[in-house]
Amino acid sequence: MLPRVILHTATSLDGRITGFPADLDVYYSLAAQWNPDAILFGSETVLAAVRDNPSLEIPPEHEEMFTPPEDAEKDPRPLLVIADSRGRVRCWDAIRKWPYMRDVLALCSSSTPEEYLAWLDGRRIGTIVAGSDRIDMRAALEMLHTRYGVNVVRVDSGGTLNSVLLNAGLVDEISVLIHPFIAGGKADPTLCDPLKAGIPELQIPLRLQSTEVVGDGIVWARYMVKGRTET
Ligand SMILES: NC(=O)c1ccc[n+]([C@@H]2O[C@H](COP(=O)([O-])OP(=O)(O)OC[C@H]3O[C@@H](n4cnc5c(N)ncnc54)[C@H](OP(=O)(O)O)[C@@H]3O)[C@@H](O)[C@H]2O)c1
Repeated sequence: MLPRVILHTATSLDGRITGFPADLDVYYSLAAQWNPDAILFGSETVLAAVRDNPSLEIPPEHEEMFTPPEDAEKDPRPLLVIADSRGRVRCWDAIRKWPYMRDVLALCSSSTPEEYLAWLDGRRIGTIVAGSDRIDMRAALEMLHTRYGVNVVRVDSGGTLNSVLLNAGLVDEISVLIHPFIAGGKADPTLCDPLKAGIPELQIPLRLQSTEVVGDGIVWARYMVKGRTET
């Protein structure tokens, strides 16, 4: 079975997902309402966070940081999942310390360097290997359900992973927080970046579910993906 998948994104009025003051309090207060079992990040999103906060990258290494939390199965907090087939994210131990997650998990593929898989294993970071070159997201989501009991996934990611998931028919809902701000600058990254994902033909019909004004003039629009189970 596939989990329910929700893309949750903050944008400027001109469709940018960076380069404007996103209201993170509003973003995260609404993000909790789906009660997700897992939060999915693209590797570029994590690497961008490291660029903004370099101390994430090389945390001091000590045994305690590599220890998975006890009783993770009983912990109601979501699992943090990072899609990283190329083995570029190295700040797992710092992320494992975030108080909002019960544990971390890497999605990899058969092309993921052996060195990286061994590195993850040495840090007792769980992995799902799906796909030959890039990650087969359908298979990975199915494994998230069967192995980890994940029924709802919230995707806090950039336009590349969003496009891959949409193109594979895996997304149920898109939640957009449109901020009253023109970010200007260069076009990317945006909510969907099919060119970067290698799928320029991407087209996804949506049905508007609701709109609401939240926070300081932010329009919260929720769309269901036509053809998916609409609840
Ligand atoms: N405003 C917001 O709400 C918001 C939220 C999140 C992120 N962001 C911003 O978004 C930016 C990053 O966005 P991004 O689009 O560059 O990157 P991204 O979506 O975060 O990362 C790209 C992901 O797509 C995967 N991928 C690419 N092609 C694939 C394929 N063919 N099959 C399977 N997986 C594939 C990559 O996997 P591999 O690593 O395995 O190649 C990687 O995990 C950052 O600046 C971040 O700050 C904004």
